[in-house]
Amino acid sequence: MNHHRKQIRAALFGATGYSGFELMQLIDKHPGIEITHATSRQAAGLTLNEVYPTLSRRRLCAPDAVPLDQIELAFLCLPHGGGPGCSMEEAARLRAAGVAVVDLSGDYRLRDLGEYLRWYGSEHRYPELAAAAVYGLSEWRREAVAEAKMVANPGCYPTCTALSLWPLCGENLLRSAPLVINAMSGVSGAGRSAKVANLFAEVNESAKAYNPGQKHRHLPEIRQTLHAMAGGSLPGEVVFTPHLIPVNRGILTTTYAGLKQGVTLQQCRTLYREWYADAAFVHVLDEGEQVCLRHAVGTNQVVISLHQADEHGVMVCAAMDNLIKGAAGQALQNANLMFGFEETEGLL
Ligand SMILES: NC(=O)c1ccc[n+]([C@@H]2O[C@H](COP(=O)([O-])OP(=O)(O)OC[C@H]3O[C@@H](n4cnc5c(N)ncnc54)[C@H](OP(=O)(O)O)[C@@H]3O)[C@@H](O)[C@H]2O)c1
Repeated sequence: MNHHRKQIRAALFGATGYSGFELMQLIDKHPGIEITHATSRQAAGLTLNEVYPTLSRRRLCAPDAVPLDQIELAFLCLPHGGGPGCSMEEAARLRAAGVAVVDLSGDYRLRDLGEYLRWYGSEHRYPELAAAAVYGLSEWRREAVAEAKMVANPGCYPTCTALSLWPLCGENLLRSAPLVINAMSGVSGAGRSAKVANLFAEVNESAKAYNPGQKHRHLPEIRQTLHAMAGGSLPGEVVFTPHLIPVNRGILTTTYAGLKQGVTLQQCRTLYREWYADAAFVHVLDEGEQVCLRHAVGTNQVVISLHQADEHGVMVCAAMDNLIKGAAGQALQNANLMFGFEETEGLL
């Protein structure tokens, strides 16, 4: 169905969080989607600009006050899990009412619900909806997203990692060696709720690996996507270590990728350019250029630079804004695809 240029009425659940705020700002400038309801449990009754002075005077409402028969689309900027107000339940309630959903949480991303239980710590209560959800890595699943009513927006690290490695996986150029992904993230990646570990005095002038030793929840998601991109099975293990760095926003990943015998850096760069020729939001830098956070922060771009690591492999560096391409921007990109708008509408 093509709703091109029709005004889509949408609700934003979790409008007072970091990704909700970002999405609110983006959609305010989108010509085709209107946020008719923005929710918060704690700030219901206040206006958005009482929480964020730069936003409009729209009044926030409680999640159960959204008239589901009056909206076509809902963005869930909510925590994962089956607790009250969390994404798993809200998505099911909205889908039962016929509302299309873009869920920014991790609840509907993993195909294997045994893995969901293991990494998210609770039983998935809606296996049918989880099976129907399309994994919304927009560039990778464009056609499927366009047909979807339930989109699981990818995690921030998985978005940056997967787009930075898709050509190598898709063309089967990786040799049998571990894919070693070191990633850094700004503090907004952890959301807006108060945690001692994320206080300014804890984070500033410092840096640390967190959830090291293959313990971050994004690992199974990264594995799932890279395996699928490689046609079912990657030749090597994925070793993923995230780091917290003292910036507000942005993700930088550096990945060591071992290549099959004879594959050169120049071939890889040419391949990346071909692969992403029609991708408005993936930018591959020239030889000699080195990506940094500033290239991507504030945009919906994943910016990639490729470097020779040793005679057997390359270093793929990628930068992205965790709140835009890693969350709100990609959610809007997916909504554009779902409702027949230009994929780039509101995002350039
Ligand atoms: N931050 C990122 O970089 C990023 C990137 C990709 C994906 N995500 C995912 O996007 C979702 C939102 O992330 P965020 O960083 O925007 O979160 P956040 O800043 O902590 O905001 C959470 C929002 O959800 C609402 N909420 C509703 N039920 C809640 C509950 N039971 N517990 C806590 N909050 C509840 C909060 O408002 P009330 O408490 O007033 O209802 C608030 O508006 C998460 O699932 C996160 O994993 C985040």
